[in-house]
Amino acid sequence: MIKIANIVGARPNFMKIAPIHKRMLQSDQFDPILIHTGQHYDDKMSRTFFVDLGMPEPDLYLGVGSGSHAQQTAAVMIALEKILLEQKPDWVVVVGDVNSTLAAALVASKLHIPIAHVEAGLRSGDRTMPEEINRVLTDAVSDLLFVTEQSGLDNLLSEGIAKEKIHLVGNVMIDSLTEHLEKARESTILSTLKAEPENYALMTLHRPSNVDSQQVFSQILIALQHIQKQIPIIFPIHPRTRKMIDELQLADQVASMDQLVLVDPLGYLDFLHLMSRARMVLTDSGGIQEETTFLGIPCITLRQNTERPVTIEIGTNTLVGVDPAQIIEAAENALNGYQREHTIPPLWDGQASRRIVEILSKV
Ligand code: UD1
Repeated sequence: MIKIANIVGARPNFMKIAPIHKRMLQSDQFDPILIHTGQHYDDKMSRTFFVDLGMPEPDLYLGVGSGSHAQQTAAVMIALEKILLEQKPDWVVVVGDVNSTLAAALVASKLHIPIAHVEAGLRSGDRTMPEEINRVLTDAVSDLLFVTEQSGLDNLLSEGIAKEKIHLVGNVMIDSLTEHLEKARESTILSTLKAEPENYALMTLHRPSNVDSQQVFSQILIALQHIQKQIPIIFPIHPRTRKMIDELQLADQVASMDQLVLVDPLGYLDFLHLMSRARMVLTDSGGIQEETTFLGIPCITLRQNTERPVTIEIGTNTLVGVDPAQIIEAAENALNGYQREHTIPPLWDGQASRRIVEILSKV
């Protein structure tokens, strides 16, 4: 039996590890344990996802919680080192680019436990983004690098990573999406929010560069002020963003918009349903650029760069930055029915986790 430590920490990790963990549990070759660092700990940021994705409770929970980057990364490292020494897994599997991903990779590499990084090779080229540092460093210490799109492969090769370690396997997030889309359609979230299919925009916003600066956040709000006059905007709000609205004294500006509908963070199935019926999505998330590409929903990304270029090249994604005029123009294009030609990226077929597990079974 191959003993695997599957590591998760924050919301975008859960839908990536779920299909991998499930396949390993079903296989008689693997003995997987699920370790949750506790980087995200609110029910709505964590527990709901385990329920929606049909994932078992974590076998081990580190409970590290929030803190500065150094505090959070260090807390995961200290707690995880002890556990990996006890558990002695043959492989550690990390996903994505959050602080828990890097912390786990660092611990495993010092203990000489081989590391598989799922969603390796993505690069925004923006080193001010905490996730970019996490990606570069995690990839540097990983032994197997599972890539979602061609750019990931090219980036890793240009960084001098050996070709034999890299595998283009597709996108595990799309495994979860395809598995759960039908169930998500049963969600009653549209009627709860009194939203009409194809007649609302869905928005998420949480990146420090957008919500921690008064100047940038206000600019985004100017654009929203305009857009919400034409179409209701449903905005499930990340705890960090809610906190910053208060700290930056933007609450009055937010409250003044009649059709900007703030709701608590949503579970996986409700969010997937809302995304699949939206006229357009406004976001600064990474994963949502990919999910909308798969679903064929226009996505307006409020960032200057993306580590997922395939969503722009062949998907439905448009990068607009944070200039109100550009955000408004992209929203108007979407409202007027302008639809980018799009195709689904190669290997985003719901089978990425099968490929990953197969490769891991042979190393
Ligand atoms: C993290 C990831 C980011 C990912 C995002 C998805 C890093 C560097 N960033 O950002 O890549 O896109 O998750 O959500 O790992 N908080 C709560 N409850 C929670 C979790 C967080 O209230 O369950 C609040 C706390 O005030 C915390 C803040 O959100 O300080 C930020 O949380 P943190 O985990 O540091 O980063 P995220 O912004 O969530």
